[in-house]
Amino acid sequence: MQKMKAAIYSSYGGPDVISVSEMPRPAIKDGEVLVQVHASTVSTGDWRMLTMKTGDPVLAIIARMMFGLTKPRHPVLGSAFSGRVVAVGNGVTRFRMGDAVMGFAPHGAHAEYLAINENKAIVQKPAGVSDEDAAAMPFGALCALVFLRDFAGVKPGQKVLVTGASGGVGVFGVQIAKYLGADVTAVASSQNADLVRKLGADKVIDYKQTDFTRGSARYDLVFDTAGVTDFASVKPVLTENGQFIPLEFGIREMRQAMFSGKSGKRIKIGVNGDKREDLETLAGLMQRGALSAVIDSRYGLEDIARAYERVGTRHKRGAVIVSIASHLALPRAAA
Ligand SMILES: NC(=O)c1ccc[n+]([C@@H]2O[C@H](COP(=O)([O-])OP(=O)(O)OC[C@H]3O[C@@H](n4cnc5c(N)ncnc54)[C@H](OP(=O)(O)O)[C@@H]3O)[C@@H](O)[C@H]2O)c1
Repeated sequence: MQKMKAAIYSSYGGPDVISVSEMPRPAIKDGEVLVQVHASTVSTGDWRMLTMKTGDPVLAIIARMMFGLTKPRHPVLGSAFSGRVVAVGNGVTRFRMGDAVMGFAPHGAHAEYLAINENKAIVQKPAGVSDEDAAAMPFGALCALVFLRDFAGVKPGQKVLVTGASGGVGVFGVQIAKYLGADVTAVASSQNADLVRKLGADKVIDYKQTDFTRGSARYDLVFDTAGVTDFASVKPVLTENGQFIPLEFGIREMRQAMFSGKSGKRIKIGVNGDKREDLETLAGLMQRGALSAVIDSRYGLEDIARAYERVGTRHKRGAVIVSIASHLALPRAAA
């Protein structure tokens, strides 16, 4: 049986519960491909899978019911990946050996290899895009695309405010809102003002100086990726049919959303999926240069606990990358 290195955890906790260990490479089933992972990210989502910190005790219980009540059901961390196909299962038609790919797996990307069904969120990596940039994209960009385009239905000319504009989701929130034709206000600290302007923000509000909820500007959408405000505070700055979409929510927001009508000032909550079609759209935008990755920092697989520490600060700029160097060694036989 061929082995691989992977970042694994057997209990929930801080970065110290992660170990980088050898384990069997995943076996591929019919319809699956084996991907040699070149780069991955540690996203806020991965960090939540490690720590089970949700900010709401009821949601924490729901999360444990989904992912393992007393310990994680899936031992290998990680979701976004970029790499190459090194084996194809029976019936696979979309990929061939050697294809450069990127994608989003529900778990298992912090490893040298992962198996994924060809119909899940895996697409060809656009030519000219690095593994690190490709791995930096799926978590934040899938979220921003689905929330802005599908849940909020952002239209050209609308005024969209993005909090946490320099974060993992925010950097794509600014770019995608701009791509959808919105007038974008980014809320970020002064050290990240140039970054968010470069990504397309029309205005920048320094959250350390100004509370946007007390300003005179009105917004068709407040997309709160940083979990820094609430519906009652945002209402005064929403337009007549303005929407508030917080990515961090609890039971209070679930109740508010349930009773929010279809018009008027309203709050919407949700969870973005990871559809292949959406990833295709995003890869196309990357290829055309309409979407860029922002990389906060890079770590090797052996140092992945430090990457999780960085993500846990909630002050990263864009994505934290894990470079998995095994592919730089002599080519190995496929599984
Ligand atoms: N519902 C869903 O389906 C879904 C999907 C994806 C993600 N999420 C959630 O979305 C949230 C955002 O994830 P993320 O990866 O983008 O987080 P992140 O990368 O940790 O966000 C950090 C960024 O937020 C900025 N920030 C901190 N306080 C701020 C404030 N008061 N105002 C404005 N910006 C502030 C920081 O800038 P400074 O360093 O300058 O402070 C930093 O750049 C997470 O809670 C994640 O779990 C939900």
